[in-house]
Amino acid sequence: MIIFCLGRITQAGAAEPGEQEYNTFCGICHTIGGGVLIGPDLAGIHDRQSQEWLEKFVISSQTVINGGDAYATALYEKFNKIAMPDSPVPAEKVKDILNYILSKSAQPVASGAAAPAPAAETPPERVATEEDILLGQNLFQGLVRFENNGASCISCHHVNNDAIIGGGILALELTQVFTKLGGNGVRAVLDNTPFPVMGVAYKDKALSENEVFALVSFLQRADDQHLFQQPKDYGTGLLLSGLIGTGVLLLFYSMLWLRRKKASVNQQIFDRQIKSS
Ligand code: HEC
Ligand code: HEC
Repeated sequence: MIIFCLGRITQAGAAEPGEQEYNTFCGICHTIGGGVLIGPDLAGIHDRQSQEWLEKFVISSQTVINGGDAYATALYEKFNKIAMPDSPVPAEKVKDILNYILSKSAQPVASGAAAPAPAAETPPERVATEEDILLGQNLFQGLVRFENNGASCISCHHVNNDAIIGGGILALELTQVFTKLGGNGVRAVLDNTPFPVMGVAYKDKALSENEVFALVSFLQRADDQHLFQQPKDYGTGLLLSGLIGTGVLLLFYSMLWLRRKKASVNQQIFDRQIKSS
């Protein structure tokens, strides 16, 4: 009886073991029953794979993938080769996290009831205006400052768009990131980025809700239009015009110097002396 009560108390009380770690380290990219985010929905993963496999994968997904595991490789391909970071928590905690996912997945009634609820609550979807998209473009390029002074995206990323001049190549090109991650995925990256380099850039400089909305709208537009945009690839064009320009210049100089003295100045004196002697 006492044990029973205790069980109920822990259930109703503070976070379950693994819950906090899940929310901190996994919830950025995954949901349990809420659909695909950056990674797959984790509801029911225990039906898909063994506990042992799951532990190995969470501890180091790339090790499993490089080991040639067919399921993991297919999943990795399907998720556009986004590498899931190695677990930041020790193996024992990984077990807690997996148990937490299991217990969450095993609540079909609760998750079934929870899933439609937010849909009913969410206010009518905000539609991006041209102003939003322009703001996003200007924020991306650093023409407009972020409210909290975060770095402009272009210092690390590039987007192929007529309005944008070459961006950074430190990080991935984002032209088609919208197709790749979807609106929710991009929003998740901007709200709470899982990428360490980007995280450092926006530590204590979080983007506002409006800025995130504008950036996502801009990235969606860039993605929609990417087929019509001239890639701003100066590489080959520049090399070619450089070569042609050099050729033209050399030709010009050789014409200018057509009547240049070809032998040394002393040659004539020398010739005269030879003749006279
Ligand atoms: C940066 C985003 C990211 C984070 C953070 C992340 N994952 Fe993943 N996860 C992925 C992606 C993407 C995949 C799909 C496989 C791949 O691309 O490697 C995946 C796949 C998985 C799978 C296999 C799912 C299936 O359908 O079989 C499990 C299990 C998993 N993650 C658990 C976790 C746990 C637990 C954590 C927290 C410790 C975590 N992930 C943190 C992105 C992430
Ligand atoms: C300090 C450099 C830096 C800055 C600044 C930065 N990012 Fe990133 N971003 C990264 C890195 C690193 C990654 C991880 C993926 C990679 O290696 O390119 C990333 C990943 C992303 C991704 C996911 C890409 C994918 O295909 O999975 C998106 C979307 C993104 N950034 C958007 C933005 C936006 C929008 C801004 C401006 C608010 C921004 N980033 C600013 C470095 C940066």
